Amino acid sequence: MTRDDANTLPTDGSETVIDLALPGRSYDIVIGENLIASAGERLAAKLSGARFAVVSDSNVAPLHLGPLKAGLEQHGTFLGAAVVAPGEASKSFPVLAKLSETLLDLGVERGDCVIAFGGGVVGDLAGFAASVLRRGVRVVQIPTSLLAQVDSSLGGKTGIDTKQGKNLIGTFHQPSLVLTDISVLSTLSEREFRAGYAEVAKYGLLGDAPFFVLLEKNWADIFAGQDEKRRQAVETSARAKAEIVVADELEESGKRALLNLGHTFGHALEAFAGFSDRLLHGEAIAIGMRLAFTYSVERGLCPAEDATRVEQHFAAVGLPTEIDAIPGGKPTTGELLRLMAQDKKVQGGKLALVLVRRIGEAFVEEDVAMEPLTEFLKRESAGR
Ligand code: GLY
Repeated sequence: MTRDDANTLPTDGSETVIDLALPGRSYDIVIGENLIASAGERLAAKLSGARFAVVSDSNVAPLHLGPLKAGLEQHGTFLGAAVVAPGEASKSFPVLAKLSETLLDLGVERGDCVIAFGGGVVGDLAGFAASVLRRGVRVVQIPTSLLAQVDSSLGGKTGIDTKQGKNLIGTFHQPSLVLTDISVLSTLSEREFRAGYAEVAKYGLLGDAPFFVLLEKNWADIFAGQDEKRRQAVETSARAKAEIVVADELEESGKRALLNLGHTFGHALEAFAGFSDRLLHGEAIAIGMRLAFTYSVERGLCPAEDATRVEQHFAAVGLPTEIDAIPGGKPTTGELLRLMAQDKKVQGGKLALVLVRRIGEAFVEEDVAMEPLTEFLKRESAGR
């Protein structure tokens, strides 16, 4: 839905507003350019009476905190900023504890609001802190990475990692508003943009074959920063995510689980690489999605040419597709299976996997047979 009355402030019509229509907790995802500078005004109108504490990281804050802070100060609503170290390692109990105390020291009260201003790590961490601070304060997501804009800032999942795996401690805490400023994407490194693009491609692969065709045609423009194409990619992804979240907010019916295409393999690879720069989340799930397609082909579920297209597209954009591509060594099959067993979809010790019937049609396979999967992973780990 496109509206021109977003959040009670007049716009010039250049913004798109997607209504994430959860009963009683509806919120807008506003997508446009140069939104950060006007965020203070918009937030004062939208969350009247609230004051704002910004959580960011030391990559994003020097680049973008200035205009956000100035806008909030202008409206007398800035409580302060807490800046964490960039990277997955910040999604930890020690960082959560320190951040929560900093937010209390800044004076965040029940009626105030935390702004998660950064990529996926900041969104998950700040969202989690907000959900438990004083038994829950509001959060606004202002995502600055492609990955956060198309996936992690939307739908209310928050969390931190433990040594057992990724996102195993967390909450559902829907934001009050998401401000998606696509202008900031131009400050991302190419590697980070590419990793986020894996999540964009995911929406085509799991449920929208024409979108995947569009990406096959337009990816070079999207990477080159062609604003309209970028915006179309972000909008289509955000709409797809919103639709899935509305259908299955708490991941109960299996619909939201489709968003985990490539993630059971991918999270295990990320855990093996120590959630470090060795393998970014998007890189891990690109390998994971390719594995999900190849495994689906091997099981006679999916045409081989679809797996080939996925592999070729990822290779074209420069995303990894092989377990071998992890710099500094790869996991043994045993390690991989042990790490996959930590997946949140495991029930009664049984693994579930998101598999595919074709590009654009994913499904959840419950109670995965371990023998063929183990044989498959042995072959993949040995290198194809
Ligand atoms: N990123 C997966 C989800 O939000 O469900």
